[in-house]
Amino acid sequence: AKKIILDCDPGHDDAIALLLAYGNPEIDLLAVTTVAGNQTLEKVTHNALAVAEMAKIQGIPFAAGASRPLVREIEVAPDIHGDSGLDGPKLPEPTLMLESCHAVELIIKLIMSHPPKTITLVPTGALTNIALAARLEPRIVERVKEVVLMGGGYHVGNWSAVAEFNIKIDPEAAHIVFNEKWPLTMVGLDLTHQALATPDIVANITEVGTDCSQFVIELLAFFGRMYKQAQGFDAPPVHDPCAVAYVIDPTVMTTQRVPVDIELTGTLTLGMTVADFRHPAPDDCHTQVAVKLDHAKFWQLVVDALKNIR
Ligand code: BDR
Ligand code: CA
Repeated sequence: AKKIILDCDPGHDDAIALLLAYGNPEIDLLAVTTVAGNQTLEKVTHNALAVAEMAKIQGIPFAAGASRPLVREIEVAPDIHGDSGLDGPKLPEPTLMLESCHAVELIIKLIMSHPPKTITLVPTGALTNIALAARLEPRIVERVKEVVLMGGGYHVGNWSAVAEFNIKIDPEAAHIVFNEKWPLTMVGLDLTHQALATPDIVANITEVGTDCSQFVIELLAFFGRMYKQAQGFDAPPVHDPCAVAYVIDPTVMTTQRVPVDIELTGTLTLGMTVADFRHPAPDDCHTQVAVKLDHAKFWQLVVDALKNIR
């Protein structure tokens, strides 16, 4: 199985990413860590535990991380995720206990105690925890297998004309993470805007007929309404599970090796993921971007994972 740490800010699509990681047999979910983003740290951590309750997750450590970006003031996204960060379904009261250590400590501990190149980091929120971990214990950079993150976009933004939310809210953290030499896959908006939860997909999920699938339907209904209002989407783009899906089966999307760096000083372009598509990519290029999604294959992974959660 593929060992991952999911670092997230649930968040509707983060919640679905968590369910995909937990329900897919190829994934060994080592830990779930949280970071401020879609809502405050307190709220997203509560939401992560509520999703765990929903899916009856036990024996997997959950730890809370950074409560604000490295440099900037905290920015949250109630216009997409509501006041709770996970509006829509009624959330069960969590019973799972949070780890007492900080998320960054847990991430470092896990990576340093496992064999080299066995753990994939899957960040689906701001990169604050990952950046802090790389600074606190630089040896993790050589030791992780790869980083597969949801964030950025080489042709499109959603939090500004050219910047995506996860990168824009903590651009300094993103700068650290993109410039460390670990293999990094950016699953950005170019890809995730193809992961639309269209009515046929919603019907397939409904057919699963479990409490968890019902929960996902209610998440998607709220998420869909907000995305329609805020950004004019007919069906919501379900970003974060795309990163998990890539770890499960890289053939779910095509990728292209290109250098990517983060804009930190632009007045109009702060937080832009600047991708250099000039050919050929330099030999030492350690980043790649996701390009084209196999929509049917992706959603089948989500549906199959939900079937495994009872
Ligand atoms: C990203 O921002 C968040 O609102 C979502 O959870 C996703 O990680 C999309 O830009
Ligand atoms: Ca997220």
